[in-house]
Amino acid sequence: MDKLLARGYTDLSVLDLSSTALEIARHRVGDSAPVRWLREDITTWQPARQYALWHDRAVFHFLIDAASRARYLEVMRQALGPEGAVIMATFATDGPERCSGLPVARYGAGELEELLDGFAMVATGREEHITPGGVVQPLTWIAATRRQLSASSGRP
Ligand SMILES: C[S@@+](CC[C@H](N)C(=O)[O-])C[C@H]1O[C@@H](n2cnc3c(N)ncnc32)[C@H](O)[C@@H]1O
Repeated sequence: MDKLLARGYTDLSVLDLSSTALEIARHRVGDSAPVRWLREDITTWQPARQYALWHDRAVFHFLIDAASRARYLEVMRQALGPEGAVIMATFATDGPERCSGLPVARYGAGELEELLDGFAMVATGREEHITPGGVVQPLTWIAATRRQLSASSGRP
């Protein structure tokens, strides 16, 4: 978000379950930053509009049951426009098994690609994220766009 603001983007929304997390981010960028702050559970959120880009670092991996994951992916599809793109980072398969005391699911790029049915992968990557406390947390990154049906799709 900070980098998008620095580049002049003005249609930004930040969603988190935690009002404390939102307050910290809001304090960092200032009250006048053109950001909509949404205190919502991503699995129950009902987006009122569509977005060009969905960016999630280290949220999806907290959803460890199939129903929550399915709901997240459904919400993401609702929130993205027909040419929407998604950038996601989760803990990698050799990443930590817990985060902030909570169990997490870990993914390789192939597993995320399977979950993002209907999206075309643009890029995948790995990051050795280092926490402020100096702990290394391997992340899997993916970028994908909504797959466009070709003009001939569906014809015999
Ligand atoms: C590890 S932090 C990552 C924060 C930020 N995305 C970043 O990369 O710095 C995970 C965040 O996910 C949020 N979170 C966890 N479950 C959530 C849910 N169901 N809906 C919305 N936010 C959730 C937590 O409140 C927390 O702020």
